[in-house]
Amino acid sequence: MNDVTSLRTDYAKGALDEADVAAAPHEQLARWVDEAVAANAPEPNAMALTTVAADGKPSSRIVLLRGLDAEGLVFYTNYESRKGEDLAATGCAALLFFWPTLERQVRVEGAVSRVPTAVSEAYFRSRPRESRIGAWASAQSQPLATREELARRFDEADARYPGEDVPLPPFWGGYRVVPERFEFWQGRPSRLHDRLVYQLKTADGAWALQRLMP
Ligand SMILES: Cc1cc2nc3c(=O)[nH]c(=O)nc-3n(C[C@H](O)[C@H](O)[C@H](O)COP(=O)(O)O)c2cc1C
Repeated sequence: MNDVTSLRTDYAKGALDEADVAAAPHEQLARWVDEAVAANAPEPNAMALTTVAADGKPSSRIVLLRGLDAEGLVFYTNYESRKGEDLAATGCAALLFFWPTLERQVRVEGAVSRVPTAVSEAYFRSRPRESRIGAWASAQSQPLATREELARRFDEADARYPGEDVPLPPFWGGYRVVPERFEFWQGRPSRLHDRLVYQLKTADGAWALQRLMP
């Protein structure tokens, strides 16, 4: 490995000011996702999802943001996957966006619930047929003896649903992370980064904005 201690660590692309951020944190996040798209950032809607298992052990993986509004952040997956088991056990998760070219990070934490089946159905229907067959073929996170076995499972699902009408698997759908906390980070020179936290005030459902030391 190269000497990682000498890699560049100075940031100067932007600033984050209390006066400029949206009052609602999901709007601020939408703004940053849009700016990442406009800047051609790779995988602008990719986010690391961290879950915690029943035994307290955390694990992370990337998923794609597929919905964002005042209700929360939505992603789609297999409910019987490792992450699905964790979410069933703990009911909460953390999400992390990182757009290196914009020198920005966003952290989101909250409770997690399944989206209504009708919402998952609408999203599933919007996916290409091969993706829908693939969802049926993969018992996500389960051991697989060979690559050929996966191809066989795909062919079986393909034969079972020959037309365009591929139904939503009962084990597949969306989760919504309902945020309690958002943190927006903008890299600044000399490690004097901007960090603004929105914390949900449970009393009235409003958001409190707080700057943190970098
Ligand atoms: C760029 C990228 C996007 C991904 N998007 C998703 C996604 O939206 N949903 C999903 O279930 N897995 C997605 N994955 C795969 C997950 O990272 C992970 O491998 C899979 O969900 C199994 O995780 P688990 O065994 O912890 O449940 C994506 C991976 C990458 C690298």
